[in-house]
Amino acid sequence: MKIRSIFTLSLLLVVLVSCNEKHKLTSYNQGINITPKPQNLVVNEGMFSLDNTTSFIVTDNKELKSVANFFTSKIKQSTGYELIVTNDNQDRNFISISLNPELALNEEGYTLESTSEGVFIEGTTAKGVFYGLNTLMQLLPAEIESQSKIDHISWQIPAVSITDEPRFPWRGFHLDVCRHFISVDQVKKHLDLLSIFKINKFHWHITEDQGWRIEIKKYPKLTSVGGTRTEADGSVHSGFYTQEQIKEVVAYAAERYIDVIPEIEMPGHALAALSAYPNLSCNEGTYTPRIIWGVETDVFCAGKDEVFAFLEDVIEEIVPLFPYQYYHLGGDESPKERWKTCNRCQTRMNTAGLHDEHELQSYFMNRMEGVLKKHGKKMVGWDEILEGGISDTANVMSWRGEEGGIAAANAGNDVIMAPGAWLYLDKYEGDYKIDPVTIGGLLPIEKVYGYEPIPTDIDSSKAHHVLGAQTTMWSEYIYEETLSEYRMYPRAIALAELTWTNKDKKDYKDFERRLNNQMVRMDGHDINYYIPLPEGPTSHIAFIDSAVLEFTTPRPVDRIVYTLNKSEPNLDSKVYSGPLVFDQDVTIKIASVLPQGKMSKVRTIKVEKQTLSPSIDKEQIAPGLITKTAYGKFLSTADLNSIDSWTEKQIDSLGEANRTLHWGFVIDENRFRAEVIEGYIDIPEDGVYFFSSNQDQVWIDNALVVNNDGYVKRFSQNDGSKALAKGLHKLKVIYLNNVYRGWASDWNTIEVKFRKSTHEEFKPITSEMVYRDGTDKSELLTSNQ
Ligand code: ACM
Ligand code: ZN
Repeated sequence: MKIRSIFTLSLLLVVLVSCNEKHKLTSYNQGINITPKPQNLVVNEGMFSLDNTTSFIVTDNKELKSVANFFTSKIKQSTGYELIVTNDNQDRNFISISLNPELALNEEGYTLESTSEGVFIEGTTAKGVFYGLNTLMQLLPAEIESQSKIDHISWQIPAVSITDEPRFPWRGFHLDVCRHFISVDQVKKHLDLLSIFKINKFHWHITEDQGWRIEIKKYPKLTSVGGTRTEADGSVHSGFYTQEQIKEVVAYAAERYIDVIPEIEMPGHALAALSAYPNLSCNEGTYTPRIIWGVETDVFCAGKDEVFAFLEDVIEEIVPLFPYQYYHLGGDESPKERWKTCNRCQTRMNTAGLHDEHELQSYFMNRMEGVLKKHGKKMVGWDEILEGGISDTANVMSWRGEEGGIAAANAGNDVIMAPGAWLYLDKYEGDYKIDPVTIGGLLPIEKVYGYEPIPTDIDSSKAHHVLGAQTTMWSEYIYEETLSEYRMYPRAIALAELTWTNKDKKDYKDFERRLNNQMVRMDGHDINYYIPLPEGPTSHIAFIDSAVLEFTTPRPVDRIVYTLNKSEPNLDSKVYSGPLVFDQDVTIKIASVLPQGKMSKVRTIKVEKQTLSPSIDKEQIAPGLITKTAYGKFLSTADLNSIDSWTEKQIDSLGEANRTLHWGFVIDENRFRAEVIEGYIDIPEDGVYFFSSNQDQVWIDNALVVNNDGYVKRFSQNDGSKALAKGLHKLKVIYLNNVYRGWASDWNTIEVKFRKSTHEEFKPITSEMVYRDGTDKSELLTSNQ
């Protein structure tokens, strides 16, 4: 048999195209696209054609039969073919699956041999066969993942020989369903998609400060009280899974060979539980599920036995729901303030001989690990559990960095790597000024792909303690369910490859090429995946003589298209090929196009010719600003119309208008207010200036330059620009101290940043640049002093 490289296969395909139009492959279906990339693959000569008479040969094994049925029903959806599952051998036109315990592969490994006659798949287990069939699906055109019948496709499989097994046994993803609830259907959608990529662990984060999301029959208030929060704007967020729904999802995952790890958070991130049962706290206050993001001070009391009894009951109720051996008990971000002043917690420390509150947390986690052990389960905890010492059997999930994972593995504990810098998918994949708001930080897919789960600081004799790696999807900013798809895909596919494929076989450029095929598979599942957008210019560009706009995409796309006549761009629109130059007003509508012809969302950019706004001539001027304050709950600047009395004071700088900055563990509604800060800004030289701010509005010379009304004031997405002459210009900044969609604006420093169009970097407007009307002769200054 002649061995050919993938490159030669592409050439072969080109030849085939000229021989037979039916075999014409779209660009994204050319070559080998299996993801994660198999460990060993040889391309042979020939093609296997799947058709309505192909039979699925299965030995008499119940589990293999259900695996076969799983794939025949998928294949039927897209091809319309009703493949017969049989145990009769055939000479040709067959897909044969069988178990072979003799294979020198791990329990998830498989071999696949396809020829023009048929396909043989063998696994050491049914799970291995399942992965072999997933690989077979990935040898077919990407449209095989369609949920509806596709005509005019030749369902061909290249002849290959594959021997494959994963590098790591833990290839996971995590979903926080607490900050924003995620429905059963949406969870299933993730399971469906990720199983294609041989992901095998689902870490389900089901309890939090902001909501308790699993029915516990013995403690109904966990969901009736702890499952609902009413936010500061009156919006209500609720949702939980019944035990029946949990079973349904766990079974759905099992059908896809995905194990489900529940996470019950303790001792922190427990405010929803304390709201339902305040007796479980140190202070026994009146609580409600937390309505802002961040970390809560009130935690489970470590001094009360009733807390342990409660948690034991919860574990006992969920054990029948989650058959997998690993259970996650949280352990992260648990402030110690309450324990320090709680008599019961202090008594516990004395009687148990604990030196500090970290050891008290270890006591807590060890005691609960003991409960899990009674049920035959293993505990996983976030890396904070290391702080007061862990048992020999605890498993550590390293998230704050790799250090926790390194220390735990070197100490002989098993670890799962989930370091935020590489694997937290609540970071931006593109420009934060363009993408939907999220927690912050840039995480390009190439960085995810490049993650190596075994850091060099792990002793080579301990490397086997790294079970694998997983991504996390925290849901604070998942304001709509499908944003979880936008954040996870395609980056979670990079995790699939880095945990499956050996390090020396990885190749980012080839992975990037294969993504074009995988995106079509995701289309089949109606996934709202991230599509690289044309980046560079923000949404408003002022200019004086001419404007030059240059666009790039974070990852290659097929092309960028645009219009200049306000119509929506389509596949036939003008193709962007280099910087655009304008000398008059124009509205650009611009989008990316993927190889399959799918378009990104459309960006709209206003390009506006301006003349320099003249500076203001002021005789009496003094350093500083005036801020007007009105207390109350204001969610948008329109609400300010209802204010009829303001108090006024002088301040030295913009930042001084919010001296209450505080990463608040509690919200002090007494601070809710509006600040309207007015004065003048001294512009250093003639030019076009860009302004950026996380405050509600910024006005320059009575023009609204930044308008964040209706946005979460986390990162300015509404930078504006204005042509300004050197000298003084009116400045007005509106700041609303409120909580909007979980974001407390108290967390922002009041700041406006600016840059001249010829500079790259934004700088803050400093106290040296701001002035107010002067009334006192002694304050007399001029703008150029
Ligand atoms: C975490 O991100 N707090 C585990
Ligand atoms: Zn206590």
